[in-house]
Amino acid sequence: MAVLAACTVKNDAVLESLVVNSKGQPVVSLDSTKASPIAVPPASSTDPGSGTTNLSGLVSTDQLNTIKTFIVKVDLTASTATALKNDGGYVIVNGTVVVANIANGQYVAAQNLCTHQPRPNIIFNRTEFYCTDHGARFSTTGTGLNTLGSRGLTVYRTANDGKTLVVFA
Ligand code: FES
Repeated sequence: MAVLAACTVKNDAVLESLVVNSKGQPVVSLDSTKASPIAVPPASSTDPGSGTTNLSGLVSTDQLNTIKTFIVKVDLTASTATALKNDGGYVIVNGTVVVANIANGQYVAAQNLCTHQPRPNIIFNRTEFYCTDHGARFSTTGTGLNTLGSRGLTVYRTANDGKTLVVFA
C-alpha cells in the first residue's frame, strides 16, 4: 500500500489524500485488505480537461469553448479591458490575476500574489511582472529576475478568440 498525500497551500481548493493498494488502485481506507477500489471513470473525449493541452494564443471560438475549467475569463471588448489593447498594457482581474498584453495581442497571466511576501501587489512593468512592495521582478514565464523574486511567480496559460481571453492552469 502506498499513501500519497497532497502538499497544499492556502489557496488550494482541494485538500485530499490518495491511498492506493499494491496494484495501484485507489482505495477509500488505509486498510487495503478490506477496502474496495474506488471506481475511477475512464478518460473520455468529453472530459472537460481534455483538449486544452495545446491551446494557447489565438484560437477559434469553438476551441476556446472547450476550456471548461478556468481561473478567469476576460471580455477583451469591455471598457475594463481597454489597457490590454496596448503592448505592455495590463489589467488585474478579480484582484487575483494579472493579465498583460506583452506585444501584438500575445497575452500572459500570473497570480497576483508575490512570493517574497504574500502580498497582492503584482503589476506588469513593460516586459515583466513586478511587485510594487519591495521590487521583486519576474519574467513572463514566472522566473525570478532578482533576489526578491527568486521563488518565482505562478504563471497561468492563456488562450483567446479575439473577443474573450481565458486564463487557465
Ligand atoms: S512583497 Fe513583493 S517584493 Fe516584497
